[in-house]
Amino acid sequence: MTSVEPGSAEPRRPHAAALPVLEADAIHLGPWLAETADEDAEALARLHADATAMCYWSTEPWVPGDRARAEAYLDAIDDGAKEGDLRQFAARLPGSSALVGWVTLYRIDLTHRRAEIGYLIDTALWGRGLGRRMVGLALDHAFEAMALHTIEADVDPRNAASCRVLESLGFQREGLLRQRWRTGGELQDSAIYGLIADER
Ligand SMILES: CC(C)(COP(=O)(O)OP(=O)(O)OC[C@H]1O[C@@H](n2cnc3c(N)ncnc32)[C@H](O)[C@@H]1OP(=O)(O)O)[C@@H](O)C(=O)NCCC(=O)NCCS
Repeated sequence: MTSVEPGSAEPRRPHAAALPVLEADAIHLGPWLAETADEDAEALARLHADATAMCYWSTEPWVPGDRARAEAYLDAIDDGAKEGDLRQFAARLPGSSALVGWVTLYRIDLTHRRAEIGYLIDTALWGRGLGRRMVGLALDHAFEAMALHTIEADVDPRNAASCRVLESLGFQREGLLRQRWRTGGELQDSAIYGLIADER
C-alpha cells in the first residue's frame, strides 16, 4: 500500500499532513504523515479493535486487522481537515513514530466558535496522565490557535476515566441525554460536558 498517488509527487492526504505539532511532557500530538501512513493504519485498526478501549463507544469495536476501514478513517481525517470541520491529531510518545492514540476536535463550527472533542489512548498506557495531557493540548489549540469559545463532549456516564479527564480540565457536566445510543443491542446514556474559554 502506498500513501502517494501513483504517478504523483503529492502526498495522498495533504490536509491531514498539514496539521500542527503540539507538544507536552510525555506526549506529542501531530499530523498524519505519508511516511507513517502504513504503520498508522495498522495501529488504528488495532486500537479500534480493543474491546476495553471501545467499551463506552457509540459504535462496536472494529473487526481486528480491518485495514480497509483504517484507510477510510484516515481519508475521513483528511477530508475533515480539508473542509475545516474536523481536526484529528495523532498522539505519539516523544522520540517515537508509533501511534498511541488520537484526539479529535470535530463538528467545528466557526460561526458559533464551538467544537466537540473525542479521544482515545492505547490501553497499555492508561493511568499515566497521558490522556489528560493530550486532551489539555488539544484544548490549548482550540481556545488559543483556533479562538474557539466552547468545547463540548458526549460521554457515557459510566466512563469514569473520561469523565475524570474532562472534570480535571474544568469541564462542567451540563446534562444527561437518556438512551441516546444503541450499540451492540445496548442502550447508552450521554453525559454532556461543556467548557467555556473564560472558565479555564
Ligand atoms: C479516557 C482515557 C483517554 C483516559 O486516559 P488515561 O491516560 O488513562 O487518563 P489519565 O491517566 O490522564 O487519568 C486522568 C484521570 O482519570 C482517572 N482515571 C483513570 N482511569 C480511571 C478509571 N478507570 N476510573 C476512574 N478514574 C480513572 C485518573 O486517576 C486521573 O484522575 P486524577 O487526576 O484525579 O488522578 C482512556 O481511558 C481511554 O482512551 N478510554 C477509551 C476511549 C474513551 O472512552 N474515550 C472517551 C470517549 S468520550
